[in-house]
Amino acid sequence: MSTAISNALTHLECTSCSRKFEAGKVYNLCECGGPLLARYDLDQLRRTWSREQLVSGPNSMWRYGPVLPVTRQDSIISLGEGMTPLLRTKRLGGRIGADSLWVKDEGLNPTGSFKARGLSCAVSMAVELGIRKLAIPSAGNAASAMAAYAAAAGLEAYIFMPRDVPQANFVECKAYGAHVTLVDGLISDCAKLVSAGAQREGWFDVTTLKEPYRIEGKKTMGYELAEQMDWQLPDAIFYPTGGGVGLIGMWKAFSEMQELGWIGAKRPKMIAVQVEGCQPVVRAFEQGSARSEFWTDAHTVASGLRVPKPLGDFLILNAVRESGGTAIAVSDAELLNAGIRLASDEGLFVAPEGAACVSALEKLLANGTLKRDNKIVIYNTGAGLKYLEAYSTRFPRPASGEHDKLGGLITPR
Ligand SMILES: Cc1ncc(COP(=O)(O)O)c(C=O)c1O
Ligand SMILES: [Zn+2]
Repeated sequence: MSTAISNALTHLECTSCSRKFEAGKVYNLCECGGPLLARYDLDQLRRTWSREQLVSGPNSMWRYGPVLPVTRQDSIISLGEGMTPLLRTKRLGGRIGADSLWVKDEGLNPTGSFKARGLSCAVSMAVELGIRKLAIPSAGNAASAMAAYAAAAGLEAYIFMPRDVPQANFVECKAYGAHVTLVDGLISDCAKLVSAGAQREGWFDVTTLKEPYRIEGKKTMGYELAEQMDWQLPDAIFYPTGGGVGLIGMWKAFSEMQELGWIGAKRPKMIAVQVEGCQPVVRAFEQGSARSEFWTDAHTVASGLRVPKPLGDFLILNAVRESGGTAIAVSDAELLNAGIRLASDEGLFVAPEGAACVSALEKLLANGTLKRDNKIVIYNTGAGLKYLEAYSTRFPRPASGEHDKLGGLITPR
């Protein structure tokens, strides 16, 4: 028997034309092309749900169930996502001139990245809405997460990702039993194939923001940060921005929490971190534009940031500007150096995307945008272990002979 969840979802709303859509139906984008966002009756929740009740909820992102879209307990597909550690740095902050520097370590999520949050929510909603076949274009980690949650739900997953994704993403997806297509191109090319296949094969398109619920899972990063910081948000948040959905999601979480009476009006400066080889948001921010332009020839070892034109670019730029934040790019060499320093200083081996934030922070401390006594949180969105090819360029271990195999593949001699 299914147990109803007392969530407060009322409808979905278009981010471009404000048109409202009834809850409980299958949607992608609005007819105007705008992404849809879930809306809740926060007024009513304010009276019936308090932040003190959270401790009695699950030790996962599902503790924020009343502001998540799932309405039946037995729809929830959970592998233990969320409630990741928020760690205060011991040496790195002192060395680079930030006295209160924290890392939110999303690498500890199932499948080793924050993408687990979004896909746990999206796959749960697919279960609830009776969808059986899911298709996703991915830079890598979203593919791993979708393959895992689809496997857990017993649904079919069709994965499209660039041919040169990290090996971990490819092997995971295959192990989870997904249908994997490696594409000669970028996530934008994969998205076109998913869109065509969705029409032809009847797959549901789980492209981020085309699917309205991944962002709801990701927004729990904002709820969790507030809870872990005792409802005092930091002065600045560094977020590695590809599609930017984590950043937009947290921004949404902050306004929801204010409406719930859980936090005040103060917002952190939202810092969108990109890479020199793919920085459409930084370019648009610097030019004062509302939208980004397609970044040609995108390249970087931080594969999650290889998104040439984010669908929600206008939402990212709005949040960054409203918060008084900024957008900044770093080079691959800088981010790998920063990642190795973070590992040896703190015992945290982070994804190149998270490492990019360390390098960006150093720049913003150096140019005076941020001050030593600011409380600063860096989102490490993934585990360094998923990027052995990238880090191995710094620690080459050539095989010494024909028979030497790496990774414990010992052959008979
Ligand atoms: C490790 C990692 N960090 C950051 C991102 C970018 O995520 P978002 O779409 O929230 O900007 C990705 C996306 O693939 C990723 O895999
Ligand atoms: Zn619309």
